[in-house]
Parts: sequence; C-alpha cells; structure tokens
Amino acid sequence: MSRCKVKAAKLRAVRKKVRPRQVGQRRYLDRIPSDKFWQQPLATLSSVTPAQCCQAVFLLAAGGVLAVAVMPRDAKTLLVNYGARKAQTSPTDTPPRDVSDRGRLLSLIDTITSWTQVPHSWFGAFYVVSLACSVFWLVQYLGDGAVLRFVASRQAAVQQPPATSGQVALGWFMMFLQGGRRVFEHLTIIKPSKSTMWVVHWLLGLLFYLSISVSVWVEGSDDAQSLIKMAVALPAFLFAWVNQYRCHKHLAGLKKYSVPEGGMFDHYICPHYTCECLLYLSMAIATAPRGVWCNRTLICALIFVAVNLGVTASGTRKWYAEKFGIGAVANKWNMIPFVF
Ligand SMILES: NC(=O)c1ccc[n+]([C@@H]2O[C@H](COP(=O)([O-])OP(=O)(O)OC[C@H]3O[C@@H](n4cnc5c(N)ncnc54)[C@H](OP(=O)(O)O)[C@@H]3O)[C@@H](O)[C@H]2O)c1
Repeated sequence: MSRCKVKAAKLRAVRKKVRPRQVGQRRYLDRIPSDKFWQQPLATLSSVTPAQCCQAVFLLAAGGVLAVAVMPRDAKTLLVNYGARKAQTSPTDTPPRDVSDRGRLLSLIDTITSWTQVPHSWFGAFYVVSLACSVFWLVQYLGDGAVLRFVASRQAAVQQPPATSGQVALGWFMMFLQGGRRVFEHLTIIKPSKSTMWVVHWLLGLLFYLSISVSVWVEGSDDAQSLIKMAVALPAFLFAWVNQYRCHKHLAGLKKYSVPEGGMFDHYICPHYTCECLLYLSMAIATAPRGVWCNRTLICALIFVAVNLGVTASGTRKWYAEKFGIGAVANKWNMIPFVF
C-alpha cells in the first residue's frame, strides 16, 4: 500500500471515530440554549438574599390582599371578613339565594370559604409560632447554629457588615416581647367565641410570623447612629405594646358584640391595629442598617400589616355603622390618625 493510501485510510478511520462524538457534541450543544434559558432565572434566584425573600413575601401578600380588597362587595365580604365582622354576615345567617342570582363564581367562593373556616381563636397559633421562632434564633445565635450562619452569610455576601449588633438584639427582643405578650393574652384575657376566619387568613398569618422572625435581625448592622435609632424606637415600641394590650383587654371585657368606648377607642375604630403598625414601624427604625433610617425588610412587613389591617379596619367601620348606627363611627379614624 502506498503512503498516500495509508494516510487516506487512517484519515477515514479517524473520521469514523470522531463522527459519533461530533454527533454527541452537537446533541450537547443543542441542549445549551435551553440550559441557558434556565440558567438565567436560576442564577437570579440563587442570588436572592434572605432579606429580599422576606421582602417578596410581604409585598406579594400585600398585593394579594389589595387585589381581594378591590373585588366586588359580595366576594370581598366572603374573602376578607373574619371574626366579629364575619359573625354578622356569615353565609349561614343570610337566607340562601338563587345560584343565578348570585353568580356561579360567587357561589363557588361562598362554598369554598364556608367549608374552610377555622376558629378566630386560632390566631393564638401565630404568637406561639412567633415565640418559638424567637427562641429558635436565640438558640442558633448562642450555639453558633448552622441555620443562622447560613442565612447570615448569604446576607453578608451582599451587605456589610453582618448581622451582629445591639440593634439586632433589640429587634429580636422586641419581637420576643410582642410574641410573649400575645401568647399571654390568649391564655388569660381573650374569651372563647364562635367567630371564625377563612383558613387562608390563618396560613397568611403563619407565613407572616415565620418571615418576620428573620426580618428583625437579617438586615442588622453595627452603626454609629444605632443608639439614636434605638432611643427613638424603644419608647414608641413600648407605647404601642402597652396600649395594644389595653385595647385587647378592653375588647375582651365587652359584651359580644358592642361598641368599644374609652381611651384610644374614642378616636379610632381599631386602635389595636394602630398600635400594630406602630410596633412594626418602631422595629424598622430600631434595626435600620447604617446610612438609612428604616430597615427595608421591616418596612415591607409594615406595608403588608397596614394593607391587611387597613382592609379589616374599613370592614369594621362598615360593620359598626350597619349594626349600631352611623353615630358609633362618627369622628373616628379607622386606624391611622389624619390619614385613614
Ligand atoms: N400583623 C398582622 O398582619 C396582623 C393581622 C391581623 C391581626 N393582627 C393583630 O392581632 C390582634 C387581633 O386582631 P383581630 O383582627 O383578631 O382583632 P379583632 O377582630 O378586633 O378581635 C379581637 C378580639 O376582640 C373581640 N372583639 C372585637 N370587636 C368586638 C366588639 N365590638 N365587641 C366584643 N368583642 C369584640 C373579638 O371577638 P371574636 O373572637 O368573637 O371575633 C376578638 O376576641 C390585633 O392587635 C391586630 O393588630 C395582626
């Protein structure tokens, strides 16, 4: 065989060997565009910080509540009203109407929400969860736990310095105090009642308290202005904390149901909601990182709380006005002085 023929034979052999791999490579290359399609969102998701996760939970939840709040009145009543407000408008209290009269969608919402009611007293679970989370994060902090280290290091990768200051301790303590007081209230002053809420409210509440337990410390930082922030925030927190307790005690002592009067109830329909907003505003100031006056994650929590309770407070005003007359709500703010 001539040299040329040998070379040509070797070349053919090499091509034969290479071809299958080339096909394999092509198949692999064919897959790259679709991998790239997923790579971008996956990379974006994996770069989301714990604080951003909490912010997303609060803002999406607030958006969901707002979306329900702008629904037609009947649907809104079924989805939003709970507790004392719902007791008056429960589907079982109102005479059944013709399906075509109410609309099929509304009847479906009615059926689903009435099948999935849970007791209003299940609110107590929020505060047990909140308290349990506070204790969990304390144990993690003291024992240099892996969960806290993981969350803090994910946050520290984009935000310096990591969460280790007195502000963090104060934020944690505020949440611990709030959870502790609410558990105490449920054990001692809140009276049992037959009023109910939609299970989705309950699940949303649990999600809120799980997220807030991380939010109070995740953005913390060592900060020269931290003392000023804490000095402003602590009295506001204590004012709201004490007055919310007074409101709950007053409500618990009322005949079911009557118009609450005296103290903050002379100026507000739902002063306990006013206090709730002030509690989270003061926590947002107390735990604000360097260079800003509010903690962004807790401001997102405050937006959710204000939207959620704002919708409920406006339902409470309507309920009082219908049940006790317009005089019962005259000259009172729903929740936020000079605004709402
Ligand atoms: N962070 C959040 O997103 C969030 C959300 C919701 C609530 N909260 C907080 O949780 C606390 C309780 O909220 P809530 O919405 O359950 O308050 P609520 O509906 O006003 O009920 C509080 C308690 O007072 C009773 N009550 C209410 N109005 C009454 C009246 N006119 N006469 C007699 N009893 C009355 C209720 O009885 P029934 O049990 O019979 O209804 C219930 O036991 C508030 O401080 C609020 O700020 C926070």
